[in-house]
Amino acid sequence: MNMTSDPKNHNGNGYENIPRIITDIPGPRSRKILESQGKLETNTVVYPASFPIAIKRADGSVIEDVDGNFFIDWFTGISVLNLGFSDVIRKAVKDQMDLIWHALEIPTEIRIDFLKAFRNSFPQKMRDYKTVFGISGADACETAINMAHTISGRGAPTIAFEGAYHGISGGVIAATSGKKYKESFYGSGFDVIRVPYPYSVWDDTDVESIMRLLRKIMTDPESGYGTPDSLIVEPIQGEGGYIVPPSGFLRQLREFCDDYGIIMIVDEVQTGMGRTGKMWAFEWDSIAPDIVCSSKSVGGGIPMSVVYYRSEYDERLPTPFHMGTFRANPLAMAAGTALLKKIPDVLGDIRRRGEKLLDEFREIRSEKIRDVRGRGFMIGIELSDGRDSPMDAKKVLSIKHDLLKNGLMMHTCGHYSNVFRYMGALNIPDELNARGLDIFRKSITAL
Ligand SMILES: Cc1ncc(COP(=O)(O)O)c(C=O)c1O
Repeated sequence: MNMTSDPKNHNGNGYENIPRIITDIPGPRSRKILESQGKLETNTVVYPASFPIAIKRADGSVIEDVDGNFFIDWFTGISVLNLGFSDVIRKAVKDQMDLIWHALEIPTEIRIDFLKAFRNSFPQKMRDYKTVFGISGADACETAINMAHTISGRGAPTIAFEGAYHGISGGVIAATSGKKYKESFYGSGFDVIRVPYPYSVWDDTDVESIMRLLRKIMTDPESGYGTPDSLIVEPIQGEGGYIVPPSGFLRQLREFCDDYGIIMIVDEVQTGMGRTGKMWAFEWDSIAPDIVCSSKSVGGGIPMSVVYYRSEYDERLPTPFHMGTFRANPLAMAAGTALLKKIPDVLGDIRRRGEKLLDEFREIRSEKIRDVRGRGFMIGIELSDGRDSPMDAKKVLSIKHDLLKNGLMMHTCGHYSNVFRYMGALNIPDELNARGLDIFRKSITAL
């Protein structure tokens, strides 16, 4: 970046002046742009309410707004920028742009590079799986469930968990007329059996009782459910509140799926690409899912998703199976390939740095902190009202604004929108984490 106030080289002295807040938040220019957005764009935009600024540019883990304020990025566009706004990605995309940026499914060299690098990012026993591309996380999860229905040959229910987030997408296939598309299971709508996820803060749902419930669903003729063909699970719940299940939960789900011939779909959209300190979060339980969904960081910030599935399914998938004009964009594949090459270098460090951060969050003394949990660079800090209820979402939003005013972009999630989540880039300098922690600590202890 060619700028006098480059956030990376701010004052030519690394990060010592970051964050730098020189106006009210929002500043005057941001205010104007936010007003224009309000006039031109739908009222239903979500994120400007959390972060009321207009962004000018970003570099690494520093974001500059249009008023010249510099913020520490603990947000990473919701775990999309696992190496931050990295020069590695910038260069890969620029180089690819000189070649080609749209090719549908006609192969390019970068497509093959990506497919190889992606496959190699999995444990050895999963390196013969196949890939189908999508555009978003929702697209990937929908494709995975549709794949399971196609393989099982029936539009059976899928088991999904309370607190799950697999995306929002519609059933527009209903309005599309081609028989070849209509005959897929997309058209039949998805039926779901909802079961609890192990979450012990406000509920007390332990793994044992969940496993008992699952087995009952399969064996009790009066369970009230059809026989499911698939199960979709997040290894750590993301939007649900950065909920880390007890170790072994995925392994028990794997055994359950094996016992009943259920296709196990692991949604790694948020947990994947090194976020938890392993390339894929299911590796913590040493299992091999049947289908893995990946998106967010997999395209380095350029929209893309991937469904990675057992190659034997190929024999039972019709052509066309999945469609979409913009799937597998070459720019996304260039960015994704660059990222996949870099992430292994930081993984070990993420486990060590993540544990240290977890301890540091735990050391913050405040009766408002009800729980701190996480793995790697996926840490949730759940707030209560100091008695026995989740902190009110409006109060949480005002804390989020306070953090922003002090130069820290940090987002929330959770059943009650009361969980602050740390999702810094995997290469964020320690210095910026220390500053961010100071800001967070001050804000929380001042409550
Ligand atoms: C685990 C998980 N799955 C799926 C999605 C949906 O992804 P997208 O917003 O790209 O549709 C998300 C988004 O936050 C997610 O966290």
